[in-house]
Amino acid sequence: MKITVIGTGFVGVVSAAVYASFGHQVIGLDIDEKKIQLLAKGQVPFYEPDLQDLLVEQQQKGQLRFTTSYREAIKEAEIIIIAVGTPSAADGTADLRFVFASAQSLAPYLKENAIIVIKSTVPPGTLEKTLAIVKEKTNVHFYGASLPEFLREGSAVYDTLHPDRIVIGTEDDFVFDKLQKLHQTLNAPIIRCKIASAQMAKYTANSYLATRITFINEIANLCERNGADIQEVIQAIGYDKRIGQHYWYPGLGYGGSCFPKDVKELAAYSRSIGEEGNLLNRVNEINENRIFRLLNKFMQETGGFENKTVAVLGLSFKPNTDDTREAPATKIIPFLSQHSAKIRSYDPVAKYIPSGAEVQTQFSSIQETCEGADIIMAVIEWPEILHFDFSKVKTEKLQFFIDCRNQFNAVQIKNWQYHYLGIGKR
Ligand SMILES: NC(=O)c1ccc[n+]([C@@H]2O[C@H](COP(=O)([O-])OP(=O)(O)OC[C@H]3O[C@@H](n4cnc5c(N)ncnc54)[C@H](O)[C@@H]3O)[C@@H](O)[C@H]2O)c1
Repeated sequence: MKITVIGTGFVGVVSAAVYASFGHQVIGLDIDEKKIQLLAKGQVPFYEPDLQDLLVEQQQKGQLRFTTSYREAIKEAEIIIIAVGTPSAADGTADLRFVFASAQSLAPYLKENAIIVIKSTVPPGTLEKTLAIVKEKTNVHFYGASLPEFLREGSAVYDTLHPDRIVIGTEDDFVFDKLQKLHQTLNAPIIRCKIASAQMAKYTANSYLATRITFINEIANLCERNGADIQEVIQAIGYDKRIGQHYWYPGLGYGGSCFPKDVKELAAYSRSIGEEGNLLNRVNEINENRIFRLLNKFMQETGGFENKTVAVLGLSFKPNTDDTREAPATKIIPFLSQHSAKIRSYDPVAKYIPSGAEVQTQFSSIQETCEGADIIMAVIEWPEILHFDFSKVKTEKLQFFIDCRNQFNAVQIKNWQYHYLGIGKR
C-alpha cells in the first residue's frame, strides 16, 4: 500500500518506519524543513531507542522517504495518516490547528477513495470537522477514520511492533478492511468501534493512568503524615488481583508530552459538553500543584535551598527519551533558582537549560555533577543513575539524597551516610 504519514514527530517517524517495515511504500511529510533534511539523511532528530536502525534500513530498502511537499506526498497515497501535534491551548482544550492545517494542505492533491486517518489524539467531533475542511477543497471521493496511537516514548518501536491492541474507529467496511490489512502482520487484537469511541479510548487510557498516579500520590501524602510507608501499602494492595502490583509510581506527579495534555483536554472537553464537575478537572489541579508541594516539603527538610548546590539528575520526563515536555526538571530548576540554589544538572541524553538560567550548568557525568553538591535530587531513574555508586561522591558537605520517584534502595543510600528523603514515607 502507498501510505503517507503527516507529521514526523515521535509518533509520525516511528509509525512511518514500522509501516515501511511491513513492506508498504511510505512517505513521511512535515513542514519542518530541518527535520525532513535530517530524516532524509537517515538521522532521527530526537532520541528513541532502536529507531535509527529501523529508519536507515527502510530507507536503504527504498520503502521509506521524506518530503516537505504535500503534492509529492499526497497525490498517490491510499492511506494518509495525520500524526501532527495536538497541544493543549491555554484553556486546556486540544489545539487542533495543526490537524486542520494539514487537512487544508492535503485536500487539493487527494486521490480518489483515499482514506484520511487521524492518529493524533483528538476529541470526538474532530474527524468530522477535518473531513469537512477537506471536502470544501476537493471533488474526489474520500473516507475518514480514527486510529489512535498508544505507543510510549522510550519504547516506541517495541510498542508499535507489539501493541496491546489496534483500535480502528470507522463505520465503513471498506475502511476497516484496508486498515485491518495494514496491521495484519501484528499479533494484536483489532478493535473495530465508532469513531467517537476510538477517540475516547485514547483519552480514557491516558487519563486512567494519570489518575492512578494521582491516586497513589494522594495516599502517599497520608502516609507521610501517619508514618506508613507507601511502598509497603502498594505491595499489600497489589496482591488483590483487581488492583495489581504494576503501574504504581508515587512521585512528583505525572509529566511528559501526553498525560498532562490529555487529562487537561479531556477535562476541558467534559466542561464543553456540560459535565463541569468531571473528576479529571480535579486530577489535573492536584497534579499541577503536587510538584510544588513536594519541593516546599524538601526545602523544609533540607533546611532551605538558599546558597546550596543541588545536583539534579535526570532532565527528561522519564528514562530512555530526550523529551523534556512537562518534565519535572523543567519545574524543579526554575524553583531551585528562585530559591537561590546553585544548580548542577545531568542527563544521559536530554538537554534542558531554561533561558536566562545561568545558575544551572549541565555536566557530562554524574560524578562531575555531584562535585561540591549539598543535595542530590534523583529525578529520573535512567539505569545509569539508578545503578550509580553514590558512595563515590559522598562528602561531608553532601548530606541529602532526594529520591523523587522512590526508585532507589533507601537502605543502601542510608548506609552510604546520606539523609534519604523519598515519597510517602518518613
Ligand atoms: N509522543 C507520544 O508519546 C504520543 C503517544 C501517543 C499519541 N501521541 C499523539 O500523537 C500526536 C503527535 O505527537 P508527537 O509527540 O509525535 O508530536 P511532535 O510534536 O513530536 O510532532 C508533531 C510534528 O507535526 C509537524 N507538523 C505540525 N503541523 C504540520 C502540518 N501542517 N503539516 C505537516 N507537519 C506538521 C511538526 O512539525 C512536528 O514535527 C499528538 O496528538 C499526541 O498527543 C503522542
